[in-house]
Amino acid sequence: MSTDQHPRARTSVFRTKSVEQSIRDTEEPEHALRKSLSAWDLTVFGVGVIIGTGIFVLTGKVAKENAGPATALAFVAAGIVCALAALCYAEFASTVPVAGSAYTFAYASIGELPAWIIGWDLVLEFALGTAVVAVGWSGYVRSLMDNIGWHLPAALEGPDVPGGTFDILSFLLVLVLTAVLVLGMKLSARITSVVVAIKVTVVMIVIVAGLFFITGSNYKPFIPPAVTPPGGGSDWTAPLVQLMFGYQPTNFGVMGIFTAASIVFFAFIGFDVVATAAEETKLPQRDMPRGILGSLIICTVLYVAVALVVTGMQHYTELSVSAPLADAFKAAGHPFYAGVISFGAAVGLTTVCLILLLGQTRVFFAMSRDGLLPRFFSRTHPRFRTPYRPTILLGVIIAVVAGFTSINELATLVNIGTLFAFVVVAVGVMVLRRTRPDLPRAFRTPWVPVLPIVSIAASFWLMLNLPGETWFRFAVWMLIGFAVYFLYGRKHSRLAERNDSPAS
Ligand code: ALA
Repeated sequence: MSTDQHPRARTSVFRTKSVEQSIRDTEEPEHALRKSLSAWDLTVFGVGVIIGTGIFVLTGKVAKENAGPATALAFVAAGIVCALAALCYAEFASTVPVAGSAYTFAYASIGELPAWIIGWDLVLEFALGTAVVAVGWSGYVRSLMDNIGWHLPAALEGPDVPGGTFDILSFLLVLVLTAVLVLGMKLSARITSVVVAIKVTVVMIVIVAGLFFITGSNYKPFIPPAVTPPGGGSDWTAPLVQLMFGYQPTNFGVMGIFTAASIVFFAFIGFDVVATAAEETKLPQRDMPRGILGSLIICTVLYVAVALVVTGMQHYTELSVSAPLADAFKAAGHPFYAGVISFGAAVGLTTVCLILLLGQTRVFFAMSRDGLLPRFFSRTHPRFRTPYRPTILLGVIIAVVAGFTSINELATLVNIGTLFAFVVVAVGVMVLRRTRPDLPRAFRTPWVPVLPIVSIAASFWLMLNLPGETWFRFAVWMLIGFAVYFLYGRKHSRLAERNDSPAS
């Protein structure tokens, strides 16, 4: 066994799994995934998961409640935070091309407990992210159904609708996508490409057609003056940074841009999911950085353009919060465009769900392969070669969560979890440069350690702009994770077994 650790470190919660061992594990036939993805597939994959509920749903809410036309600046701020993190992810993904994303990176650099924490955190990000997007999808589908006069009984419209309890559409969507994933990567990648094309076309329609309906006066003021929210806003729903420093919480103004950025950050989630497919990539050293950075750049440009167009078409105070892109066209007297956009959004959100679900099962798979979760989950299907057990287990749980849960609180929880993962990855890049300077790195993060440190500060700043209650929920989830690790993972870790065995 190759390990360069001090003997005492082998039993510690900071024991690390060597990069060579990580790669060797992927070669065990029973636990191996098929290598079939190219840089193009990864970019399509990235755009497929990045453009979703964030731009289609949250833009309107954030413009109306937090930032006005300056929502475009919020997208720029969130995009910068993501670009910094992406440069760290790209180095890791090209050096440790193994399923599991930030989890695997942390295991190779900082140690087992931090890796477990991050894996547990990613489970939260992807599972709840899938649920959020499924609920957003269901809203668009219901709006399309309403156009042609079909109506579900109110009770089946979901908890976000008055009188609703169970969202049958999002529940069914997650179950169908789970079946698609069990049948295999190839099938889902093919569906993804077609759907991504539809989604990008719809976003381009919004930008190009929308340009003709912009009214300059809607941009005045571009950064609306700060206002105190009803009730003073000093409860747990206010951004933590405002509570911490004890000043009167506000919406809009310059601080509003950062509050908005911490929410629209959701729109960028997904480029990190590209890294979860490293093990299934033909040439990960070259294609991973291209896939990650390529999809992120395309999406940032589209988001800023969409935010500028939509807040130019309608005054921010009049934007709709459930389907802002489509409704801006309705308000401009073009219901046909609105219908096309709703249709594209509904189709597009399907892939987002699919890829988040895929990322989720891959992280779970990697954790199980390492013995931190039961090994039962990491046997791939004999025919489809997919990790079907975690896919089915998690798919069913997420379907139920999507059916019963409201969208808003989940999105901020997903954001805090993802930003935390960014922090760990940036730390990991610095650590691995010191502990394993010898490893071949096809892509090197520039200006280490300055860039990772700036990345950590930027991610932390967005975290601080999330509500106090989100921090509380995140802490509870993490405490449960600690309990699972110390009661199960620590004892069953394969790394621990290898280290204990004299033959190793
Ligand atoms: N970025 C994805 C979305 O906005 C998760 O839906």
